[in-house]
Amino acid sequence: MPLESTAGDGAAEPADAADPRLLIVSDVDGTMLGDDEGLARFVAWWEPLRDVVLLAYNSGRFVESLQESVRDTGLPEPHAFIGGVGTQIELTASAGEPQRLLDWPVRSTKWQAQRVQAAAASFQQLELQPSHLQSEFKISYFGYDLSPTVLQQIEQSLQAAGLQAAVVYSSQRDLDILPAGVHKGTAAGRLAREFRISPERVIVCGDTGNDLAMFQEGYHGVVVGNAHAELKQLDSRRVYQAGSHCAAGVLEGVRHWREQWSGRPAKG
Ligand code: GLC
Repeated sequence: MPLESTAGDGAAEPADAADPRLLIVSDVDGTMLGDDEGLARFVAWWEPLRDVVLLAYNSGRFVESLQESVRDTGLPEPHAFIGGVGTQIELTASAGEPQRLLDWPVRSTKWQAQRVQAAAASFQQLELQPSHLQSEFKISYFGYDLSPTVLQQIEQSLQAAGLQAAVVYSSQRDLDILPAGVHKGTAAGRLAREFRISPERVIVCGDTGNDLAMFQEGYHGVVVGNAHAELKQLDSRRVYQAGSHCAAGVLEGVRHWREQWSGRPAKG
């Protein structure tokens, strides 16, 4: 069943209170991927529900790389991909027809990839990631065990250069610089509006620092059992800390929230 889409202008459509659908927005590496047996269990649960439980992957990797994983692993085809740490959104055939959301990310004159690189160049701790991991809207480095002070200094030098950019640090290794306001959390919101899913019915799932933004938008969250300290320390009524790892943790968490919403144990 094709999903209705909005005109693509990003305007929020009122969500229908009787709409049973929900949207899972999940990170991929270390969250959906990492345990084949758990993934197979997730897929067995999800397939019969796929018209009601919409699924989107939200990764630091670009969409093309996520599509390869769908071809080469047990990952099921989702309704949408969010790639490049929130900088790309692409609907799949499962959502009606494949379509890149061209109004995302919102362009700003205060973001220029070349000037971002120039501002970050003075930090000896940073090593530019390979060119296939860079884009017009995502400049990424490796920087091992960076302190909060260094991260702050990087932000300050971007600001001093007149740029509106934000730094996302994950796994004590990956440092992404993105246009301010563009991250996995706001991209999840743009997608929920596209699908006309109320924010109350969005479940976000992740394991490392670049997922943190998803947990800061007021959605219900699932932190998988194998998550890094960056997410393990989240303590909120909206965040479920799963015991199980990877996709089995996603399944455990989604069931938890469905039970909470229905007031009784979820079927399946
Ligand atoms: C993925 C991307 C990399 C990014 C990291 C964290 O590994 O390929 O560029 O730094 O996610 O977001």
